[in-house]
Amino acid sequence: MKNPTPKILECRQVQRHYGALAAVDGIDLKIEAGETIGIGGPNGAGKTTFFDLISGLTPVSGGQVLYQGLPITGILPHKLFHMGMARTFQVTDGFASLTVFQNILASVVNGSGKERPGFLFKRPHREKAMAILDDYGLTHLAHDLVSDIPTLDRKKLMVATAVVHDPKILLLDEPVGGLAPSEIDEFIELMFKLRKNGISIVFIEHVMRFLMTVADRALIMHQGKLIYDGTPRGIATDPTVKSVYLGSEADAIVKDMQ
Ligand SMILES: Nc1ncnc2c1ncn2[C@@H]1O[C@H](COP(=O)(O)OP(=O)(O)OP(=O)(O)O)[C@@H](O)[C@H]1O
Ligand SMILES: [Mg+2]
Repeated sequence: MKNPTPKILECRQVQRHYGALAAVDGIDLKIEAGETIGIGGPNGAGKTTFFDLISGLTPVSGGQVLYQGLPITGILPHKLFHMGMARTFQVTDGFASLTVFQNILASVVNGSGKERPGFLFKRPHREKAMAILDDYGLTHLAHDLVSDIPTLDRKKLMVATAVVHDPKILLLDEPVGGLAPSEIDEFIELMFKLRKNGISIVFIEHVMRFLMTVADRALIMHQGKLIYDGTPRGIATDPTVKSVYLGSEADAIVKDMQ
């Protein structure tokens, strides 16, 4: 019998210990190609550490991560990027002393894995970078230093640099943390645009309005474990999620849903 199509990502009993602390404590998870998954959970639940394990930034203490059916334990983050796994970080970052355009160019050239790393930018590289800036509404900031642009634009730039090489899976760590409601709306639109390309997206987010609107599946982590895996709507009525994470916010979410 033919093997079934492998999942885009699979975690088998993934763990990360720091001394006596089990920051990630045996996570089992299967993600289908094209899914958009939102991860919530209290501060210190292990969400970022979980991303670090998936993306190769931190070695696992136990268990296995498979990408398209292949074990990827020990593969460095930039190699995973070349293989189609991209991520952004909780701290809004970029090369602050370079311009917005130069940041995209750096990803165009150095992120492909096919070109010699460096700062030799050819016309097709520049044209590709300009097209991406246009897609993300950043053209007017092309020649501004990243350190000088607003947070919303820096967050957009992080996503833009991550998707330059059309990744198969994109991990976003708190993409809208710290943004105003109207800016969150802009980001929701951006996510819907990304989803149209068939990419798998996994994001961590405390902003429940964003998570409920964008995700088609929700996970909640607590003390290194998954305590919920189901529909986004279901988190607001789950007694465990309510007691360890949402508290009275759960009632407001239920009200909003009515
Ligand atoms: N390098 C490290 N050394 C020791 N402990 C760590 C390290 N990295 C993370 N931790 C601990 O692991 C736990 C999980 O941290 P993590 O940053 O993954 O949480 P989080 O769910 O992303 O929280 P937040 O919502 O605040 O971003 C915390 O107790 C944290 O202090
Ligand atoms: Mg975090």
